[in-house]
Amino acid sequence: MICIPITDATHQEALRSVARSAMAADLIELRMDLIADGDLDQLIAAARRVSGRIKIIVTCRRKEEALLPPPLDQADRKKGMTKTAKMRLLKQAIELGVDFIDIELAEGDKAIKQLQSFCRQQKSSTRIIVSWHDISKTPSLGTLKEIFQTCAQIGADIVKIVPYARTAADNLKVPGLIAYAKAQDRKIIAMCMGDLGQISRVMALVWGSYLGFAVLSGGKKSAPGQLTLNTMREFQHLLPGHQRSIQPGLLPPDTLNFVLLGNPVRQSLSPLMHNKALEAMQIDGHYSAFCVSDLAQAMTGIRGMSIRGASVTIPFKTTVMDYLDEIDADAVALGAVNTIVNERGRLVGYNTDWLGLMQALEDKIPVVGKTFVIIGAGGAARAAAYGIKKEGGRPVIVNRTRDKGRALAARFDCPFYPLSAIGKIQAHGLVNTTSVGMYPQIHQSPVTSAALANYQVVVDVIYNPLKTKLLRDAEAQGQKIVSGLEMFVRQGAGQLKLWTGKDAPLVLMRKTVRERLETLET
Ligand code: ATR
Repeated sequence: MICIPITDATHQEALRSVARSAMAADLIELRMDLIADGDLDQLIAAARRVSGRIKIIVTCRRKEEALLPPPLDQADRKKGMTKTAKMRLLKQAIELGVDFIDIELAEGDKAIKQLQSFCRQQKSSTRIIVSWHDISKTPSLGTLKEIFQTCAQIGADIVKIVPYARTAADNLKVPGLIAYAKAQDRKIIAMCMGDLGQISRVMALVWGSYLGFAVLSGGKKSAPGQLTLNTMREFQHLLPGHQRSIQPGLLPPDTLNFVLLGNPVRQSLSPLMHNKALEAMQIDGHYSAFCVSDLAQAMTGIRGMSIRGASVTIPFKTTVMDYLDEIDADAVALGAVNTIVNERGRLVGYNTDWLGLMQALEDKIPVVGKTFVIIGAGGAARAAAYGIKKEGGRPVIVNRTRDKGRALAARFDCPFYPLSAIGKIQAHGLVNTTSVGMYPQIHQSPVTSAALANYQVVVDVIYNPLKTKLLRDAEAQGQKIVSGLEMFVRQGAGQLKLWTGKDAPLVLMRKTVRERLETLET
């Protein structure tokens, strides 16, 4: 997380800085010792108006620990801040529910304990950062560890230790200190000030510092050596293994953007699943859902903007094919595209729906040589029939409306039976692609429990509920089951592979979607 300190001399200027910073950073630090006529209440409200996610630190530095001498006018106006006034201000910050207050270790045990008990009284979730700065040097690592211990023993929620680098080698004490804190499972903010300490400001986040500080371009520094937000972000981008926390809308131009095109898309779990996966894959990207009313314009947008890939859902899986430069052979054969890869303006269509279904199915039973009854004749049935056939299995179509069922069966050169005949078909597996059993009709099933007896595996494309009545009945008879969740996650993993060339974190994706669905079910 990156924090921007607000250090303006007047309330009005600070309000402007708050508005800019709250949009750009994860946190802002209100330096109330510098904002002469600062109204804490208004500054906090202004930050929260800009961003519901912004975290706020309130700090009121002692003159002795102010890291840069304030400009003369600021010094004059603020010199009257007494310790009592400072404590009052920090308590006000707690009452206003800020995320953190910062108090120097030098203020002493008594003051820190007073703030802790005030937090408890107020049942506040404000966390206390106990900070220590040395504006002239970096002591030995041993001394830094002792200082850390003192802060920790006082009961700091987060310890902040910021010495001044006199030599480049001083930076090397920071990772040791952070590792020391982490070994005790404690949160620490650590870096070196000064021009020679800049490398530690960049590296601190990689080493595990709870947060780092930066200023907006043209903004005023609150400590020597502070870098601009852009510089910090650029460095972070270069560093391997570091997960960036940035807000959508402020993504740098080299970010990989992904979109979902559909109508409606409001209920889609794809953004949740894909963003979680992108983060875990350490890919600097973001996935957003768009409810599309004009597909032609949406496709122009994908070409024109730096969008690496798109998922396509109902009702565009077939119509989207008219707007693509190239379509993969499986997607052509299936007559549907659910994934687009933007190869520098050239849009290529794929289908991972059938792949997701087949991977989930093959996990339970080898498909080659086996017969599978597919209930339904829509897009999902087509994907199932295609996949089963391609993998050497034999699909059998069963559908309520005979004409539709027959047409699908003819396309894949396989038998068709009406729904009423389902009990008489001999097959190894059953795949439900209809919406029967989907929430809220959770007590319905497309087939009677007795008709399930012959199958080895039963598949349902529905994922809400996680276990449909069909799957519950099948499981009760000892059959293997495959839920719609599994197929959903695997088609998503297939998309990520096409977009990024990397294997997706299947376990995390499954867990993420499952947890969300469980909250919907309760
Ligand atoms: P998708 O593209 O997601 O597969 P679809 O094109 O709407 O969705 O297809 C849904 C399939 O489920 C259809 O074949 C439909 O049967 P009809 O062809 O008779 O319309 C089938 N279906 C939907 N509700 C059903 C129900 N209550 N009983 C039996 N079949 C049903």
